Amino acid sequence: RVYLPIFFIMGFIEEIQRRRTFGIVSHPDAGKTTLTEKLLLFGGAIQEAGAVKSNKIKKGATSDFMEIERQRGISVATSVLAFEYEGIKINILDTPGHKDFAEDTFRTLTAVDSVIVVIDVAKGVEEQTEKLVKVCRMRQIPIIVFINKMDREGKDAFDLLDEIEQKLGLTITPLSFPIGMGYDFKGIYNIWEKNVNLFTGDSRKDIEETVEISDLKSEQLNTIVGNTAAETLREELELVEGIYPKFNKEQYLNGELQPVFFGSALNNFGVRELLDCFVSIAPPPKPKQSEERLVKPEEEKFTGFVFKIHANMDPNHRDRLAFIKIVSGEFKRNVPYLHVRHNKKLKFSSPNAFFAEKKQIVDISYPGDIVGLHDTGNFKIGDTLTEGEIINYKGIPSFSPEHFRYINNADPLKAKQLYKGIDQLMDEGVAQLFTLDLNGRKVIGTVGALQYEVIQYRLEHEYGAKCTYENLNVHKACWVETKDKKSAEFLEFKRVKQRFLAKDKQGQMVFLADSHFSLQMTQQKYPSITFHLTSEF
Ligand code: G4P
Repeated sequence: RVYLPIFFIMGFIEEIQRRRTFGIVSHPDAGKTTLTEKLLLFGGAIQEAGAVKSNKIKKGATSDFMEIERQRGISVATSVLAFEYEGIKINILDTPGHKDFAEDTFRTLTAVDSVIVVIDVAKGVEEQTEKLVKVCRMRQIPIIVFINKMDREGKDAFDLLDEIEQKLGLTITPLSFPIGMGYDFKGIYNIWEKNVNLFTGDSRKDIEETVEISDLKSEQLNTIVGNTAAETLREELELVEGIYPKFNKEQYLNGELQPVFFGSALNNFGVRELLDCFVSIAPPPKPKQSEERLVKPEEEKFTGFVFKIHANMDPNHRDRLAFIKIVSGEFKRNVPYLHVRHNKKLKFSSPNAFFAEKKQIVDISYPGDIVGLHDTGNFKIGDTLTEGEIINYKGIPSFSPEHFRYINNADPLKAKQLYKGIDQLMDEGVAQLFTLDLNGRKVIGTVGALQYEVIQYRLEHEYGAKCTYENLNVHKACWVETKDKKSAEFLEFKRVKQRFLAKDKQGQMVFLADSHFSLQMTQQKYPSITFHLTSEF
């Protein structure tokens, strides 16, 4: 065991403590891209608005392959946006808002230490937000809520806060409160810092006017926002104090309490308050559970896991970029690390780190950081890298897909290419592959219909293989769990339901239920078997 000099260890610990790795989640159009951009502006990582490209797929672009390619390009560029703010190194992990890529977002959530949820004040809690917050809650990820577009007419603040509590199941505490809204929007009272920010509606301005209000009862408030607004604000703040729990950092960090901010990302309003609070309360990298043990970031030895794989944009180079979240120790360039699943040492001569929208080769990275490694097909999502210890990080489950189709080979001479292509695309996490027990036929399961076109297009352009699809009526894929594989009940289940049984890519047994009803009936008939909608349980 090599003992490192104390000054070195000090530096290492500080590097960990100053990192904040988080994701912004929202329903498309709530303002995620706009907010990201404003955060980068504060960090000085970009100079002008409009620099961050939206990775959303424009409406009606479902069969436009150029659009898919363009989107892939952008999503490499915006996978990780890193910047520094007041000595804190912030890593924003991009999460696609488009529902067809929800699985990608779920996986990215395994690599974040906290999230900011953006909600559109007029639209309130939308479907994607609900799904994503559910995953965050399952993982006890600390959440800050940002209610955006306050410059527009929207829902009443209290109604919206109610909706957030009910639909998202959160326990919230407003740390800022709007003064008026839309046309009458005057500004924000910052409960966290006890001051009033006046809204000017001038998006070119970087920092709005801030007036310290030490006492809410003071006449000063009336002078600034007018009598009516001042009175309303006092009443509302009294209500806030009466209804909502006081902010408590410990509870926030445990995922039990969620602070709420109001603002307008487009007008750069309320963003600095959000960022200042974020850097002071959001958690640095946390310990992570592996199958073997809990691994702490301060541990000297490097460990990390792959949470995302991105194919190269250049079809002539079929290498890919595997995104690794560093959990412990330091990741160094040209040092051999153990690829645990393959039991093979690999070293990386050009690990990429991310800075705003640029990639650059780095010699050393710390826990909380993301490095992009060039990969020729060694990695799949969930793989662990270590300095030699056998560690397997848990917690990148597959969710039941929503769509299922048979995939057929359309060019008998290219069977090998087809299977290689399917294999690699599945490792990238584009979709899930199931093989039917009965006849070995292959079924592709996806979250959105768009993926079928992506797969077909990429198989042809990257692997030279052709495929066709055939519809298959499946409602949900359920991972099957039984305590006793030899029980009469389980054997009967296997015999009766043989037609609906398949293996996933890991060889786990899956029941492809053709309707909600049949799933219920099966569950009733075989009570000793549990049917899970995720691959890890
Ligand atoms: P997303 O990444 O969550 O999908 O949302 P994005 O930031 O792209 O924002 C969606 C739309 O909402 C954009 O308008 C953006 O300008 C607008 N927006 C974001 N924040 C605010 C805000 O605080 N107030 C108001 N009024 N609008 C806001 P767009 O017309 O769809 O796009 P663009 O043509 O402006 O780029």
